[in-house]
Amino acid sequence: MLLTSGIACYAQQIGLVQNPSARQGLSLNGPWRIIVDPYEAGYYDFHLHPIPGGGLGADRVPVDKSDRLELTFLPNAPTLQVPGDWNTQKPEFLWYEGTIWYKREFDYAKKPGRRLFLWFGAANYQAIVFLNGKKLGQHEGGFTPFQFEVTDAVRDGTNSVIVKVDDQRHADGIPTAMTDWWNYGGLTRDVKLIDVPDTFIQDYFVQLEKGWLNRIGGWVRLDGARKRQKVTIRIPETGNYTTVDTDENGYARFALNATLTPWSPENPKLYDVRVEAETDSIEDRIGFRLIQASGQRISLNGKPIFLRGISIHGEAPFRAGRVFSEADARVLLTWAKELGCNFVRLAHYPHDEAMTRLADQMGLLVWSEIPVYWAVQWENPAAYANAERQLTEMITRDHNRASVIFWSMANETPLGDARTKFLGSLAAKARELDPTRLITAATLTHYSDPATIAIDDPLGQYLDVIGCNEYIGWYDGLPTKADTVRFKTIYDKPMVMSELGGEAPFGRHGDEDTAWTEEYQANVYRHQIPMLKRIPFLAGMTPWILVDFRCPRRFLTGIQDYYNRKGLLSDRGEKKQAYYVLRDYYQSLAVREQPPAPGTPPTLLSPHPR
Ligand code: GCU
Repeated sequence: MLLTSGIACYAQQIGLVQNPSARQGLSLNGPWRIIVDPYEAGYYDFHLHPIPGGGLGADRVPVDKSDRLELTFLPNAPTLQVPGDWNTQKPEFLWYEGTIWYKREFDYAKKPGRRLFLWFGAANYQAIVFLNGKKLGQHEGGFTPFQFEVTDAVRDGTNSVIVKVDDQRHADGIPTAMTDWWNYGGLTRDVKLIDVPDTFIQDYFVQLEKGWLNRIGGWVRLDGARKRQKVTIRIPETGNYTTVDTDENGYARFALNATLTPWSPENPKLYDVRVEAETDSIEDRIGFRLIQASGQRISLNGKPIFLRGISIHGEAPFRAGRVFSEADARVLLTWAKELGCNFVRLAHYPHDEAMTRLADQMGLLVWSEIPVYWAVQWENPAAYANAERQLTEMITRDHNRASVIFWSMANETPLGDARTKFLGSLAAKARELDPTRLITAATLTHYSDPATIAIDDPLGQYLDVIGCNEYIGWYDGLPTKADTVRFKTIYDKPMVMSELGGEAPFGRHGDEDTAWTEEYQANVYRHQIPMLKRIPFLAGMTPWILVDFRCPRRFLTGIQDYYNRKGLLSDRGEKKQAYYVLRDYYQSLAVREQPPAPGTPPTLLSPHPR
């Protein structure tokens, strides 16, 4: 009903609270009562004016037996589990796009000298949040965290949170109205009441300085009355620490020399890192690795690396709903490891934090992306502001994750000046927020002649690494076409083939020329791999896709049945023939990359080794 840009007063008066899972507080996960409201009658009156006080959000209850109050949650209202999408919890919600109201009560004993934040891991797509009948604000974007400070709004005793979640798609949204994935709605990730000291460590950034293997550089930010404090950053295992003084804004940069074991997929070494202020302290598990692009190569910890990757949607296998737990993440990342991957492209939106934290632990490099996908409204300032906010939320949440090496600005966006300007600005913002990681985007291909794909998208000038999606053998000719196609680039930059592949439901067989069969899909890969090997500037690949996934655009009866079947595994984990083709290739690469003999000096790629 409402165009997204009409909404004001977003969440986050202060920056996102870093590492909420390490914070005291109260989990608000579990059953929430719900009201399904396709006409948004709980928020707008019959003339489409917002109801004063917030309608259902006002949390009124009937005062006496003659009260004809309609906009209220009665005790017998049905429930949904949080976290979780609504689509896979009740069959009647599978296709539902619209508003569902959530209500949850909680008891809290307030303590003096503490501040409280109501924090959401994500809510798809628009969330309007009320506490004890008062509107706190709203958030837009279904895949990044947001919070509201509720120190004064929380009562001692019983409190109630009401959230209007609406997942209607919008042309001016991010993503826009057309995507190739299921529009799972709801409070899809954890909800928590975070409890911190009056002045607390709001955020910290602890990563290796660009170009260094033994020097950590970063910053801390305090929020609260006592902004000027001494803050110590400590790595107990190595004994290294440094103490800095925060300024009048509570901010301080630091540098810390330390002898560290670099994090890598083969050895995902994580350290306990403590940030200690005078009024607060917090601990995190952080790995230290150096990622660089130089010329047409990518190096990790000073050594060239080929990124053996796979693309993954944030959809849990078997139950086919949004990923929201470590258990879901472990299934997907274990399958990626078994395939021989050292890299995953988390498409096309920031996945649950469980994925990136587990990638840290399991040793998988990560491409993380915001859903600037296909045809966004490039000249709409509200769309840009929305994209930039989602970018900021994505980077803020995961900027301490060693696994994350790429920030991706977009996927398959049409050429055009307004688009390139939009994405160029996002890339600049990403560099400002995090100068240590590589900036990329998945671009579309075009032929400069019938046998040559030219990598010359003007967006490339703003990127460190060019992502390229091609479907030779599927949308573009037959599998054998790959035998004659070559790639040329105008950029002295590495390229990652961010998508390639073909479709086949598990168990559908025929000869290799018969579309929609496992044999055909495997043949696509058999012809792709030699073509990829011939690309001198190819530094990695993330074929589309690890697992079949739900998609409302895929309705070939008896074949797709509302699933995109480009997975190498079915949604039940069954391995298709193409799985083995790619696995064997990755295994052959991994064998060749066995680490050099002990004592071989590392080759640092920076022009001026430090
Ligand atoms: C596109 C797109 C994916 C989509 C895939 C496909 O390239 O980026 O989101 O699912 O192709 O067509 O299967």
